[in-house]
Formats: sequence, structure tokens, C-alpha cells
Amino acid sequence: MDEYVTRRNKLAAQMHNGSIAILRGAAIKLRNHDADHPFRQDSDFYYLTGFNEPNAVFVLSKDDKGNVLYILFNQSSDPVAEVWTGKRVGQDNACKIYQADAAYDIAKIDNIMPDLFAGKQIVYYPLGADEKLDLDILNWLKCSKNKALSFIPNTLTDILPFIHELRLFKSDQELEFMRKAAVISAHAHLDLMRSCKAGMQEYQLEAIFNAKCLDAGCRALAYNSIVASGNNACTLHYTANDQQLMAGDLVLVDAGGEYNNYAADITRTFPVNGKFTEAQRLIYNLVLEAQLAGIAEVKPGNTWDRVQIVILEILVKGLVKLGILNGDYKQLIKDNEYKKFYMHSSGHWLGLDVHDAGKYKINDRWRKFEPGMVLTVEPGLYIANNISGIESKWLGIGVRIEDDVLVTKKGHEVLSSAAPKTIEEIECAAI
Ligand code: GLY
Ligand code: MN
Ligand code: MN
Repeated sequence: MDEYVTRRNKLAAQMHNGSIAILRGAAIKLRNHDADHPFRQDSDFYYLTGFNEPNAVFVLSKDDKGNVLYILFNQSSDPVAEVWTGKRVGQDNACKIYQADAAYDIAKIDNIMPDLFAGKQIVYYPLGADEKLDLDILNWLKCSKNKALSFIPNTLTDILPFIHELRLFKSDQELEFMRKAAVISAHAHLDLMRSCKAGMQEYQLEAIFNAKCLDAGCRALAYNSIVASGNNACTLHYTANDQQLMAGDLVLVDAGGEYNNYAADITRTFPVNGKFTEAQRLIYNLVLEAQLAGIAEVKPGNTWDRVQIVILEILVKGLVKLGILNGDYKQLIKDNEYKKFYMHSSGHWLGLDVHDAGKYKINDRWRKFEPGMVLTVEPGLYIANNISGIESKWLGIGVRIEDDVLVTKKGHEVLSSAAPKTIEEIECAAI
């Protein structure tokens, strides 16, 4: 729990004296009649509390002398409800286990919160992100005013940029969870290469992946798995996963487990029947060359955009060499001609969210990599079978290769390196 104390202290240090910070945790969401989605705590809330129950509100109160109190509103124990949904932490344990200075029944929040506003000038909260919370804050302010409390906040400030900047730099404990998520997921990818056979359905590979992750301790997938064979790989967020795997096709699998709420995000592309065709080999190796060069740019001091610049140069030069694009590579990049085949960016931050929190630019300039940041590097080429003017041997080939990369003091560490990646490794895995 010390980890969470440190995070709250870092947040509190940035709050003005005479202010209050408020975050609402996630609620249970209905899937359909009487069936809920699995509960997943809000990432910002979890980051600051480690508290994994629904219906909770986090408060950090800083008085005008700088004294800080951590207050949790959470569900109270309820023997009847607990028969159905299990034991609740309750207020005593919120203080004992989760180190809240005070904990109150969430049902009483409307009575208590106006008093917490007294003497404060600023409310930090996710401004405009949650309509219900926006309305609650206004109501609590109104109640405070009606109670004629000394003075009440006159400034609402978005809290998320403060939390997201903290979340961008992973602690050792967070990295332990991320390594675990990446290793489990990488092994699950390897299992797919071993199990894949023509005639199977895409969802059968999905089932193997999901089972391997859950079996190894991931309680959820970080996102819906993409298992896209043949031309389906050219649909970037294909999740239907309901087609048959055909010999001679590639299958692109973009899937990652979530360990202790930390995501892995890995893509591998491999031949259904274990052997790349010549055309597939050429496209695959081009994407691999770009990905390796992109990863090599991940080191302290390099700016975020370097990765995409290097990837683009290699991909576009390669496409010209293969006769898929024609012209000067610099001009083709300038004219966005490559976007027919590569239409996304080089990657994103990774952490509690698969597209994790944190700015990519500061004052409109790409930010520099610093140790502790984790990002994906994920170039791809997608030659959809409805693109005209392309030799037929290239059509229906979609390749993406995605790894999870930690920026270290000296350079980087690829967290997902246990998933086979070279053609040789992939073809060996399939034997
Ligand atoms: N799996 C989603 C992504 O790669 O961004
Ligand atoms: Mn990704
Ligand atoms: Mn992905």
C-alpha cells in the first residue's frame, strides 16, 4: 500500500493549499438483463487507491496550512447484499488496509461533501469527463453555500493532467505487473503459433489466447482480441473473429492480457499453415525491419516522433523497392501516399490503460523519452484486396508487429520479447 501513499503524496504536492481533489471510481455496468459486465476499476482511481470495489469516491483534502487528509467514500457492509455479491471492504478496513484517514458510507456523501468544501478555494476533479460528477460537484457547492460555510471553492480545475503525468512514469511495482502481463501474453502468442491449423476458426485461436492468459493469472484481457486472417487483417480493429483460417493466408493476432489491471498489447502475424509465401515473406520482413529500427530509437533523449519518422522511411522505401508504390520516397511521405497501406501511428503509451495516459507533446513539441515510460512500437502494412493497381500477389496481405517497450536509463527493454518475431522463429514455432 506504500506505493499508493507515494502516489497520493505526489498528487497532493501539486495541489494548492486550501483545495480538495475528487475522483469517482467505476460503477458496475449492465451488460443485458440481470447480467453485468465484469467490474473493472477506473484506472485513475485505482492508481491512487488500489481500491477495487465499485461505488467509491476518492477525496484528498489539503487545508490552508498544507495538511493532507485522504478520505474514501465506499459501500458500507451490508449482510443482505453481501450474500449475493460477496464481502465488502467497509469503512474500518478502508482505513486499516487502504490507509484512508477517514472513510464514510457512500450513501452519505451528499451530506458530508459540502462540509469538506468549507474553507477550500479549488476543487480538482475530472472536469467535464463525467456528467454526473459535474452535477454532483455543483450540488455540493450549492449546499456548501446554503450552509453559509466560511468560504467555499470558486475554482474548478481538471485533475487528470496531474494524475496522467504521474501515470506516465512507471514504478518498479508497476513494471513488475507489466512484465508479467507481457510475458504471459507473449507465451500465449507462442501457443497460438503452435496450435494454429488451416480449417480452424479465428475464434478458436482467440479462445486459446484468452484461456492461456486467464490460466496464467490475468483476470481479464486488456482489450478485445483481434484474430484476423487473410484480408481481415486489413481491418485495423477487426474483432468479429468468425472466419475460417485458410492455408496460404497469414493471421494477424493483436491480443494482450491484463495483469493486476496492467495491460500488455502485442501483435504477431504468422502463416496459418506455418510457412510464409515469398510475397508474405517480403512484406513481413519489411515491417520487421521498420519495427526493429523503430524500437532502436526508443532511448532517453530521443523524441516520440523519431520512431514514426524512421518507420515511415523504411516502409515507404521498401514499398517503392517492391513496386507497390512508385516515386520518390520523400515525396510519397509528404503526399501521404503511404496511408493506403499504413494508416496508424507508430504506437502509444501503455500501462493501466492499453492506450495509456500521458501527453505526447509538451507546448506543441514532441516530448522526449525518459526512463520509466512504456510504449508500444507497432508498424504495419495492410494491402487490402480491393486496392486497385496492385499486383495480385500482394493483395490480402496484412502484417502488424507490435511490442511493448520500456524506456530504460541506457536505452530500452522489450517487455514482450518472448513472443517469436523473426520468420525463422515463427516457422520453427509452428513445427
Ligand atoms: N490493440 C490496440 C492497439 O494496438 O492499439
Ligand atoms: Mn497498440
Ligand atoms: Mn495492439
